[in-house]
Amino acid sequence: MTVRERAHAPYSRFQVGAAIRSTAGHVYTGCNVENASYPEGWCAETSAIAQMIAAGDSAIDEVVVVAGGDRLCTPCGGCRQRLAEFSGPDTRIHAAGLQGIEKSFTMRDLLPEAFTLRGDGESAKTES
Ligand code: THU
Repeated sequence: MTVRERAHAPYSRFQVGAAIRSTAGHVYTGCNVENASYPEGWCAETSAIAQMIAAGDSAIDEVVVVAGGDRLCTPCGGCRQRLAEFSGPDTRIHAAGLQGIEKSFTMRDLLPEAFTLRGDGESAKTES
C-alpha cells in the first residue's frame, strides 16, 4: 500500500501522498489527514514536513505530490508557504498522477517573492 492510499480523506474522497527528499538524501512521506471539523485537516505535504522535522532533518531538495483524478494536484497556498520555509527558490516540486510525474515546478514558480526570514525568496527592492 502506498502512503497516498493510507490518507484519511472520508470527506473529500481525494487522497493525496507527498514525499520529500532532503538535501541529506533521506525521504519523508505523508498523506492528507482530514477531520470532521473540516478546517482541522492537514495536507499530505504538511504531514511529510512534520516527518522530516521530527527526524531532525530540515533542508528540502525535492518534493513529489501524488494524487488521482484528471487535474494536476499542486500544493495549496498554505503548503507552498510551509514548503518555502525549508526550501530555496530552485527547489523542485513535482506534481504526479497515478502513472508518474506530470509536471514539475520550482518553488520560485509556485511562490514567487516568497516571505522567508532567510531572505532568499528573491524579493529584491527595486531602485526608483
Ligand atoms: N490536499 C493535499 O493533501 N495536498 C494538496 O496539494 C492539495 C490538497 C488535500 C487537502 C484535502 O484533504 C483534500 O486534498 C481535498 O482538498
